[in-house]
Amino acid sequence: MKIAFLSSEVAPYAKTGGLADVSQALPAALARNGAKVAVFMPLYGVVKDAGPNLIKVLDGQAMAWQGETLGLTVWADPSTPYPVCFIEQARYFERSEGAGLYGTPSGDFPDNGERFAFFCRAVLEALKGLPFEADIIHANDWQAALAPAYLRQACGGDSFFDRTKSVFTIHNLAYQGLFRPEILASVGLPGRLFRMEDMEFWGQVSFMKAGILYADAVTTVSRRYSREIQTPEYGWGLDGLLRSRADVLTGIRNGIDAGSWNPASDHAIAAPFSAADPAGKEACRRDLRAAFGLPSPRRETPILGLVSRLAEQKGIDIFLGALEGIVALGVQLVVLGTGDSGLEAGLRAARERFPSFVGVRFGFDDALARRIYAGSDCFLIPSRYEPCGLTQMIAMAYGSVPVARATGGLDDTIQAYDASTRTGTGFKFQTPDPAAFLDAVKRAIRHIESPPDRTALIKNAMSEDFSWREPAAEYEALYRGLFTPRVQ
Ligand code: ADP
Ligand code: GLC
Repeated sequence: MKIAFLSSEVAPYAKTGGLADVSQALPAALARNGAKVAVFMPLYGVVKDAGPNLIKVLDGQAMAWQGETLGLTVWADPSTPYPVCFIEQARYFERSEGAGLYGTPSGDFPDNGERFAFFCRAVLEALKGLPFEADIIHANDWQAALAPAYLRQACGGDSFFDRTKSVFTIHNLAYQGLFRPEILASVGLPGRLFRMEDMEFWGQVSFMKAGILYADAVTTVSRRYSREIQTPEYGWGLDGLLRSRADVLTGIRNGIDAGSWNPASDHAIAAPFSAADPAGKEACRRDLRAAFGLPSPRRETPILGLVSRLAEQKGIDIFLGALEGIVALGVQLVVLGTGDSGLEAGLRAARERFPSFVGVRFGFDDALARRIYAGSDCFLIPSRYEPCGLTQMIAMAYGSVPVARATGGLDDTIQAYDASTRTGTGFKFQTPDPAAFLDAVKRAIRHIESPPDRTALIKNAMSEDFSWREPAAEYEALYRGLFTPRVQ
């Protein structure tokens, strides 16, 4: 089985969230199981600046784009066990310093539609020139969603892709890739697709819709989210379409890369520890207080951590609403995040108000995130919705007990703690409001402060298997199923 895996972000090259982790770890797990995988991502300026030692695998192959003939150049990282390929196109992927992958602090790049349409089209063109005949095109999120559309709608008649099947994975339905109707013509897709039955969505063109409509199989990143997105509450206007595709829609939960997220071998943390020997966690707690300049309290109290994109999805406003109540419990909180400036202002104000209790750092900092996972006792995830969520799984692997909203993948991966049997791995709440969240935080703290419950919680959380072994096997079965004739 040969799989071309398309993603707009892949760790460690470029990352804004969990998609990058998945795009690194899932292909690696598939390759370990014997599949042939090639990963494709744009050659962003940040990737070039990091100076990896790339080799040219395609040199200026002719490609028709917007009435011109471009030279398509593709690079690959020779240090990875399977090819990670970078699509070069300076005008789309090299932007001014300080810009992100998708925009600047003042908003999205105005040509995002064209940028990622080009990415999809270029990968298909590259596949014709590279010695890699893909059986499966696996496209992720709206940025790669046009690949199935090009396969079916524009490359139709191109016998090169006759046998190729496509899989589209929704990591977050809220980000849909909506653009003006003229985008179709400018990226070489037929204007007839601007119909409600095709890519039209309330007067715009939806890339997300293309992925859902034209892929042979659609997946999302947890079982519960695969059901949620078929309801108006979580469907972002696409629930009807998703219900109509229910026969090809499955939920496969994400894993975490057990090699990378392991407190026994993580060099970023103050001391190694494991489920069998958790003593090192104490040094990590001290290190975390020091990192955020928080004083050591007279009585040892729990430290609560939060690492997140600062976005509406993540319920940071719910956290801010509950903050005073949490501080009143005498615990300390540390927050690392970046994103919405209003939420940043709220967090800054909280730090100023409670300087001995609240530590806040803005920015994207992998090493500091690791110190928070390792040094915190509880990990807070008050998300409004969460397709899968990786942070709760990472937190559990580092013995930090999650307190999370019972939604999407959070609900699937966290087992509610039951003190009578000492089973379970965390604490969940249903209603997305500060009162319900505060109540869950109180329950968590009560148990984390009771030594036998604390021991059981940490051991249970750290013993969970969130590796990619099972999810990767599920993807493989899905890929294979696309080539097995269905029995009617
Ligand atoms: P999402 O993709 O919705 O942001 P996930 O839970 O799937 O959420 O993945 C988030 C990933 O990004 C995790 O690996 C987490 O550690 C990381 N992360 C999020 N914010 C930061 C940050 N400010 N600094 C470092 N890592 C972060
Ligand atoms: C998205 C979701 C997150 C998920 C990640 C990787 O960013 O918000 O829940 O874990 O994708 O699939």
